[in-house]
Amino acid sequence: MNPESPGPLFIFPPAEVPIGTIRIYTNEMISIVVSHLPDDTWGAVENLCSHDNGTLGEGYLQNNRVICPRHGAAFDCVSGAAKSLPAVRSILAYSVSLQDNGYMAIDHQASS
Ligand code: FES
Repeated sequence: MNPESPGPLFIFPPAEVPIGTIRIYTNEMISIVVSHLPDDTWGAVENLCSHDNGTLGEGYLQNNRVICPRHGAAFDCVSGAAKSLPAVRSILAYSVSLQDNGYMAIDHQASS
C-alpha cells in the first residue's frame, strides 16, 4: 500500500449487505450507497440524487439500478450514470473491492 494513500473510505464485512440489497455508509465527509448485485458483484455511488437531492439509499435496487425514492429516477449502481428521468446528470461512483482479510473496501477513486 502507498504510505501516502488515505486508505479506503469505508470497510465493512460483506454480510452487512445481502445480495440484492443496498446500504448507506456515511461519515463526517461523505455518504455512499453500496449495492450488492444478484451476480455477487458490487457497486457504490454517492447517496445524493442529481435531480433534487433525494437520498438514494432510501430507495431500492432494481435491474442493477438504484431507484430514487422521491420521484423515481434510476442510476446505474456501478457507474452512477443517470438512466431515467427526471434525473439527467450522472452521480459520482466509487470502486468497491474485496480485501485480503475478507472485508469489502470502498475507495476514494470516483468517476462521473
Ligand atoms: S430527487 Fe431523486 S428523482 Fe427527484
